[in-house]
Amino acid sequence: MSILTLLAVETSCDETSVAIVQAEFSTGHWQSDLPTKIRVLAHIVESQTSHVVFGGVVPEVAARDHLLKITPLAQQALLEAKIQIASIDGIAVTLGPGLIGALMVGALFAQGLATALNKPLIGINHVDAHLAPALMLEKFNPNLDVGSWLQVQAPTFPALALTVSGGHCHLSLLKSSSERVLLGFTADDACGEAFDKVAKLLGLPYPGGPHLETLALGATASTHPFKFRAILADKTNRHGFSYSGLKTQVLDAVRKQLGNPTGKIQGASLNEDVKAAIAFAFQEAAIGQLIDRLKNALEDFEGIQSIVVAGGVAANKIFRARLAEQTRLEVRFAPTSLCSDNATMIALHAFVPGMNLNSPHPFSRYQHH
Ligand code: KG4
Ligand code: ZN
Repeated sequence: MSILTLLAVETSCDETSVAIVQAEFSTGHWQSDLPTKIRVLAHIVESQTSHVVFGGVVPEVAARDHLLKITPLAQQALLEAKIQIASIDGIAVTLGPGLIGALMVGALFAQGLATALNKPLIGINHVDAHLAPALMLEKFNPNLDVGSWLQVQAPTFPALALTVSGGHCHLSLLKSSSERVLLGFTADDACGEAFDKVAKLLGLPYPGGPHLETLALGATASTHPFKFRAILADKTNRHGFSYSGLKTQVLDAVRKQLGNPTGKIQGASLNEDVKAAIAFAFQEAAIGQLIDRLKNALEDFEGIQSIVVAGGVAANKIFRARLAEQTRLEVRFAPTSLCSDNATMIALHAFVPGMNLNSPHPFSRYQHH
């Protein structure tokens, strides 16, 4: 039996996150097998608040904020984990995709630490890493079981994997935990980004996804006059996504409600019932598209055994319920606390076999997503 301890760093967007995670290999080995158990010793996520006044992430502000926070958070993680830095076996860090300045802060911090400790540095693809918690952990307390050993249990393959966040909307076919074939991605906005933009239009704070979900709960059957058209899949790409048309439909509906003003519009001034009804109809259409593309993939690929869903939007309770209602397959969502960006998923992905650890030009390699 062997135990590996990794310190992981995530700074790709507006969360500064450090985690310390252990993996136990009772039979196999790192990079040839999944571990048998994992244990999160520290999980620290600091969401930057400096962007709220801008209503979206400002890349330069994000990078400067990461720079201020990364060292104290790493020190805090070691204290919480109650381990000495010398006991760390390696450093895992997000190399991309993400905001280049923000990524560089994390990557250079991790590189400096790895060099000083003379330990391996493991570069991680952020989009792939979102899936790692859902791939490894069948049962997980939504509040995160810090300090407990958790049994690793992979889903049944082949599986469909959906990574749906503020920056990405990717549908993949997983033949095993490490063999991923990308089937489709978004032609324009990511699903979470559309949630954020519609939320902003309705006067909700950034990031808007969770606020929009709460607002939509207030919609009652009698106040549901809005229905947004489904954005159909491209005939040549049944697994691709598009959210810009849906966003325009929402914008048109808001303009109409306000008496067709031109220029900057104030959706926040609509009455609460109308806002809730718009939020509800948008959410139905946004989630409907995700489910539609999953159904297309189920029709196109025989023998799919399970569906794995991760990324910030996977925290949406209506989406979780709708998908569970509409399929008899095993559906695994990442634990809620590991849906949005965090370093624990970066550490977990380093324990998924088949990773390329020696990419010579990591930034260019990962930026194309
Ligand atoms: O994975 P994540 O933290 O960042 C990226 O890698 O992009 O995802 C953040 C996104 C934001 O767009 C946020 O509004 C959305 O996930 N999100 C939600 C919910 N919680 C977070 N969208 C819809 N419903 C939610 N409950
Ligand atoms: Zn992400």
